[in-house]
Amino acid sequence: MAARRRSPPDLQAGRPAGAILSAVFTRIDHVGIAVADLDAAVALHEREYGMPLVHREVVASQGVEAVLLDVGESHVELLAPLGDDTPVGRFLARRGPGLHHVAYGVEDIEAALAALKAQGLRLIDEAPRTGIRGSRVAFLHPSSSASVLTELVEPATFHP
Ligand code: CO
Repeated sequence: MAARRRSPPDLQAGRPAGAILSAVFTRIDHVGIAVADLDAAVALHEREYGMPLVHREVVASQGVEAVLLDVGESHVELLAPLGDDTPVGRFLARRGPGLHHVAYGVEDIEAALAALKAQGLRLIDEAPRTGIRGSRVAFLHPSSSASVLTELVEPATFHP
């Protein structure tokens, strides 16, 4: 068997996807759950599950009222639509309440998006936008993520 030459790291060619993207997918920041009745969902997660509610915010740009609850170092993000004609409103009409997206926490969202793009994955957001609690977020296109809406989130350093 011929000796294999050890080549220097090359992010563009000849390396399996996992070698690049394993540096992107290192932890789950939150799971997003679409709900029709936010108060009922909060009651379940906070009072029955006993998860601490840490944040509640209307994110008008995304058409949602969102609630974050702590699960260890991760979160559950409850999402209630501000109207029927919003992404989560349309999701509820089409699929009903339930799991909406999975969000992976990253330290450098621009670098993460560049790595995904270099790997040929489709993105909904080429550049990050502002998410809940001052975070920066971007979504992969479901066609590149096994039909699971997938979010990258770079949390804010300080939570106001
Ligand atoms: Co999210």
